[in-house]
Amino acid sequence: MRILVTGGAGFIGSALVRHLVSGIGAEVLNVDALTYAGNLASLKSVESAPNYQFLHADICDRARMQEAFASFRPDTVMHLAAESHVDRSISGADDFIQTNIVGTFSLLDTARHYWDELDARRKSAFRFLHVSTDEVYGSLGDEGLFEETTPYDPSSPYSASKAASDHLVIAWHRTYGLPVVVSNCSNNYGPFHFPEKLIPLMILNALEGKSLPVYGNGANVRDWLYVEDHARALFTIASRGRPGEKYNVGGRNERRNIDVVHRICAILDGVHSDKGPHRRLINNVTDRPGHDARYAIDASKLESELGWKAQETFETGIEKTVHWYLENEWWWRPLRENVYSGERLGVFKGR
Ligand code: NAD
Ligand code: DAU
Repeated sequence: MRILVTGGAGFIGSALVRHLVSGIGAEVLNVDALTYAGNLASLKSVESAPNYQFLHADICDRARMQEAFASFRPDTVMHLAAESHVDRSISGADDFIQTNIVGTFSLLDTARHYWDELDARRKSAFRFLHVSTDEVYGSLGDEGLFEETTPYDPSSPYSASKAASDHLVIAWHRTYGLPVVVSNCSNNYGPFHFPEKLIPLMILNALEGKSLPVYGNGANVRDWLYVEDHARALFTIASRGRPGEKYNVGGRNERRNIDVVHRICAILDGVHSDKGPHRRLINNVTDRPGHDARYAIDASKLESELGWKAQETFETGIEKTVHWYLENEWWWRPLRENVYSGERLGVFKGR
């Protein structure tokens, strides 16, 4: 298999590339612009593999994308490149509109023209997987789950840009026949997670004795999935998903934010009892504007149709994750010192 992955230097993209290169043995071309969130250090374990290539390019650059398709000749595209952080989209949405919407359009149109010229066998085998989020569905109340048929109702500039890109992808299927599949996944966590997101930010702040900023009262619920479970799901959907279909991805691990932070503190208390209790560092801060109350995924279509199941529970995954950060300071220290040191993002005057 020849798989063109976009955003493969990011958190989920790097887990996917490691899985495809080392686990599956696919030929992989990783196309990434290396924004603040892209980090080739996350790909150290595969960088010299004969079945791995890297192309430093922006998905919005149509000429570079056409060259990449023409020279690599993929059977499958797995599109993950995006601006992914909700708080940054609140501070300024320009890059989100550009990469998530215009970039997805650029890639789709490049893929369509490339696919049109393939012979009949390769044409019918070709797949374009668009990797999206459960945030397109908006916010749940106390009951219910997001299903593939749940209407779109995005709240943030980030989720609105992802919703727009999902609509483009489905339109390219209905109008041009491009064999696309869309995956909508819940919150990921695990190794190599950029420390702007809740879990890695809390781990590193707690390790450094810094305040743990919990937005609002901490009662917002997210449905957590270990990143390696997501990488397996993405390969399953790209290889066996039905064209034109959407698949929700999640591991049935709903947790309130405050309970996630308490769990991280308890694990760190076990390791550094002299520095505990880490809970004393928790600080309830101004809420995120437009903060969605609850996300929860019904992944039964993916489980019953394609046989995927999450392997990690939240308890096993969070234990592994905290220990990974304890053991891999070489990876996160340069990011904390040179790229993002943990200051609050996504608040503005008037809220
Ligand atoms: P990330 O921010 O860690 O990585 C994004 C990657 O895309 C980076 O390597 C970055 O350099 C690259 N990139 C950004 N703009 C680009 C451009 N114009 N051209 C080429 N490359 C570009 O993101 P992530 O958390 O790994 O998310 C990957 C995908 O999965 C995104 O599409 C996101 O919407 C989706 N998703 C994320 C989660 C989650 O919990 N993180 C959950 C569901 C879906
Ligand atoms: O649901 C999937 C989405 O999950 C992905 O599409 C996004 O790319 C990904 O970033 C993630 O979005 P969230 O906004 O849910 O993740 P984040 O880690 O930013 O926040 C998780 C929860 O924790 C959310 O309710 C806000 C809260 N939070 C976050 C930060 C960074 C805090 O309370 N304090 C914080 O410092």
